[in-house]
Amino acid sequence: MQDGKSATTVTDKLSENIRQFADMVLKERPMHRNFLTASLECITSEEAQHLDDYISFCLLRKLTIKYLSTCYSTIVEDTMREQIYFQKHHHYRYSSFAEVSGHVYFNDEYMSHYMYGLALTSFLWPNHLALFRFFKSTLPKNMSGKYLEIGPGHGYFFMTAMALSSYQRFLGVDISDTSIAMTKDLLDHFWKDKQKKFELQCLDFLAADLLSEKFDAIVMGEVLEHVEHPELFLQKIYRIAKKDTHIFVTTCINAPAIDHIYLFKNQEQIECLFKDCGFRIKKELIRPYEGKTLQESQQQSLAVNVAYVLEKQ
Ligand SMILES: C[S@@+](CC[C@H](N)C(=O)[O-])C[C@H]1O[C@@H](n2cnc3c(N)ncnc32)[C@H](O)[C@@H]1O
Repeated sequence: MQDGKSATTVTDKLSENIRQFADMVLKERPMHRNFLTASLECITSEEAQHLDDYISFCLLRKLTIKYLSTCYSTIVEDTMREQIYFQKHHHYRYSSFAEVSGHVYFNDEYMSHYMYGLALTSFLWPNHLALFRFFKSTLPKNMSGKYLEIGPGHGYFFMTAMALSSYQRFLGVDISDTSIAMTKDLLDHFWKDKQKKFELQCLDFLAADLLSEKFDAIVMGEVLEHVEHPELFLQKIYRIAKKDTHIFVTTCINAPAIDHIYLFKNQEQIECLFKDCGFRIKKELIRPYEGKTLQESQQQSLAVNVAYVLEKQ
């Protein structure tokens, strides 16, 4: 390390796994030091324990710290490259599912890097951590019935919902085989010998035959910006939701990534879409670009993350 110390001397709460991971990331990208150090200072002891559990799970799967560091760096590098493209062209590089699906969702090697990386940024990027905390704090803890998650990806939100809520049946629908396999792996590890039932289906949500069912919770994190017609997803959610269903949706504004194909340019655009699709906003979290106000983020077209709890109007 540059100063002869570990990158993670900032705090005592970090396990050896987390220190090794952070040191590996910083060995490869020393410029990331301030960002990562500040992020690690923000996580609570409980979150540090969960991150350590996640890394331990990965190591048991025979993944290495070096592999996890590469996964994390894949997201950092892709995001930086797409940000440069976006600032120059003012639109995302791709706009159709066909252009990105082969490289991303149906490419096991890339998708694995991407999803392990994304699970790690849920702890290590303040914007992602804020969304994850909002997810946990708003999730009803004592409601019964059926929970549906659209696009569970790495599976960490899905697993957390199983741990924190009282729903009895959990269904995850994802278009990527890799995401389904990763979610299953995570649940098999953390939910082994436990009572709750879950089911995972590898399907396009729009094609999934769910319309005869109504769900008590519907969660869709970071999917709307990945699809060509977000309104179709919201309309379908509307049809399978009850009046009092807990509906949790996250997305982002001016947030380029290799597989973001639908550009939301501002908060109003998203909120109008919700309204047009029959939803009312119960709660929201608007997270500007790190170190900027919402107004500055908007003026400079910098990424804003948003999360909403919705209900049927
Ligand atoms: C960026 S990941 C989000 C993972 C996780 N929900 C989160 O918030 O971190 C998006 C996930 O949505 C899935 N996805 C994209 N389009 C989908 C569709 N039409 N139907 C179901 N899943 C889809 C992808 O395969 C991927 O696993």
